[in-house]
Amino acid sequence: MDFNNKIALITGSGRGIGKAIALHFARHGADVIINFFRNRAPSEETAREIEKLGRRSLRT
Ligand SMILES: NC(=O)c1ccc[n+]([C@@H]2O[C@H](COP(=O)([O-])OP(=O)(O)OC[C@H]3O[C@@H](n4cnc5c(N)ncnc54)[C@H](OP(=O)(O)O)[C@@H]3O)[C@@H](O)[C@H]2O)c1
Repeated sequence: MDFNNKIALITGSGRGIGKAIALHFARHGADVIINFFRNRAPSEETAREIEKLGRRSLRT
């Protein structure tokens, strides 16, 4: 599927299953909003991985 020019908001995407879903969307062209609860560091790593794929990310 093509998610170019789309923005995905994935709750609980700092780590675990949410992270895998976030990376999937990014690999298919979406920019991704990363959401986490308490653990900021894993969410920063997720965001870096998304940016390495050439997509934008926002952490919230
Ligand atoms: N059906 C199945 O076979 C199966 C298998 C595995 C998992 N699950 C379920 O899938 C979900 C994800 O599991 P997971 O192992 O990937 O990770 P998880 O421990 O549920 O955490 C994943 C994400 O959710 C955030 N989070 C945790 N508690 C939260 C809360 N109270 N409010 C808002 N965000 C919260 C975490 O943020 P922080 O990093 O900041 O904590 C993290 O970004 C869980 O509900 C789990 O029970 C189901």
